[in-house]
Amino acid sequence: MFYVAAILICLSVAHTGGTHLLNPRFPRPKGPALKPQYSYDTKYFTQPVDHFSFTRTDTFDQRYLINMKYFEGTGGPIFLYTGNEGDITMFCDNTGFMWDIAPKFKALVVFAEHRYYGESMPYGKDSYKDPEHLGYLTAEQALADFARLITHLKASIPGAADSPVVAFGGSYGGMLAAWFRMKYPSSVIGSLAASAPVWQFEGLTPCGSSYSIITEDFQKGSPGCETYIHKSWDLLTQMGQTAAGREKLSSMFSLCSPLNTTTDVATMSSWLLSTWFNLAMVNYPYPASFLEPLPGWPVKEVCSLITASSNVLEGIAAGAMLYYNYTGQAPCLNIEESAVSSLGDLGWSFQFCSEMAMPSCTDGVHDMFPLQPWNLTTYISQCKSTWKVTPRPYWILQQFGGKNITAASNIIFSNGLLDPWSAGGVMESLSDSLVAITIADGAHHLDLRSSNPADPQSVIEAREQEVQIIREWLQDYYSSL
Ligand SMILES: *[C@@H]1O[C@H](CO)[C@@H](O)[C@H](O)[C@H]1NC(C)=O
Ligand SMILES: *[C@@H]1O[C@H](CO)[C@@H](O)[C@H](O)[C@H]1NC(C)=O
Ligand SMILES: *[C@@H]1O[C@H](CO)[C@@H](O)[C@H](O)[C@H]1NC(C)=O
Ligand SMILES: *[C@@H]1O[C@H](CO)[C@@H](O)[C@H](O)[C@H]1NC(C)=O
Repeated sequence: MFYVAAILICLSVAHTGGTHLLNPRFPRPKGPALKPQYSYDTKYFTQPVDHFSFTRTDTFDQRYLINMKYFEGTGGPIFLYTGNEGDITMFCDNTGFMWDIAPKFKALVVFAEHRYYGESMPYGKDSYKDPEHLGYLTAEQALADFARLITHLKASIPGAADSPVVAFGGSYGGMLAAWFRMKYPSSVIGSLAASAPVWQFEGLTPCGSSYSIITEDFQKGSPGCETYIHKSWDLLTQMGQTAAGREKLSSMFSLCSPLNTTTDVATMSSWLLSTWFNLAMVNYPYPASFLEPLPGWPVKEVCSLITASSNVLEGIAAGAMLYYNYTGQAPCLNIEESAVSSLGDLGWSFQFCSEMAMPSCTDGVHDMFPLQPWNLTTYISQCKSTWKVTPRPYWILQQFGGKNITAASNIIFSNGLLDPWSAGGVMESLSDSLVAITIADGAHHLDLRSSNPADPQSVIEAREQEVQIIREWLQDYYSSL
């Protein structure tokens, strides 16, 4: 594990002729959930490893979480969360919206785990061993898992045979929810795709847009904050040139391992960059613990520390300290933390290197980050050397229609304007039934979280609209029976 992880760091901090390649990850909470907030039964369903061939007959058990408490049978709806790149229990815990509305709809609640994550390992411990075993980690296979699971649930649960299914998902899970409705319209009557950057692909969205959004978030957090961060990269690199400078940096940031080389300093840069990216994603209005325990509006909190300092790097260190040590429990800060360190991250790294080729870049002009262009050639060659696979940057467009998706129907694309990933989202309605909902004060899929007294009006209204649309889908379904 550690060995592979060490190699993979080059993917996020890649140095090729001075070029860094960015591979921002969606927020994937550290799982599994320690104390589940909601009650459910854990079940397993046997799936073929390969849905699309008749010659490979291996199977595996897909985990799903199910709650039948609100379901009154006789065709009541099924709410299905299309699991993304992590342990499903964490997504279950952080998708309170489904739990909040399930009683009103008398819905059966199901959270389906994505293959190759959590406990749903097609080849057990060998799942990540080599490309041969990993090759079945694709969105298409995952969607087919969800479709078969639905068929199984409907066939086995009394009263569910005619139940309409509504899919929910956030982030990559939102992309899956949207694609599920496109590819399996007979399995699901509609989908809520929250913060789903379905257009963050080659040629559809400028690669730097999400970083411009982060920069605006920090500027709003405290004017001048973005300038401090902008200045910090060169200062960090300069100071990191000498052993004395690296020692000073290590103590200023209370690092767990001292910086020994300029490569370590580059790792640290990349760690800070992903820290700010993550912070922008979880800029929620109330204290939450999705990635790290944080206060409400954490960007504002971090920025006020940054701008209060007379020394740029000390301000940055104070900001990083708030992000990683809000609870006061961190003995030191670990710059390897954002590097690929767990199966969830490994899985996403593989997906990024196969079909999820989501271009990402910074230029230091339209954003507060160092110059890191997107270079398709570099990306492909790094993926080949890391995973022994050749990415297909245009495959997702071919497979899921790119921007030409008006033949689809009944999908809600919700996006928070504070969320970096809204850059690749569907921000305007494409038809009467492909509805875009924007949430002015929302970070990454805020609408999927449970309601909270500190919720801004914009998310309250978004959720009301979502409930109303889901109600209409259900009415249409029942009146067509
Ligand atoms: C620097 O070297 C020390 C001693 O070998 C090691 O313990 C530490 O992990 C190194 N730091 C980094 C960031 O790799
Ligand atoms: C984290 O906060 C606690 C409480 O303020 C403090 O004692 C500790 O030194 C901090 N950790 C680091 C790495 O500075
Ligand atoms: C991408 O990187 C390759 C190899 O380092 C280089 O030859 C090429 O010019 C770069 N392309 C762009 C568009 O920068
Ligand atoms: C999408 O449709 C537009 C207009 O019809 C067309 O120009 C474009 O090539 C299509 N793109 C794809 C990926 O099919």
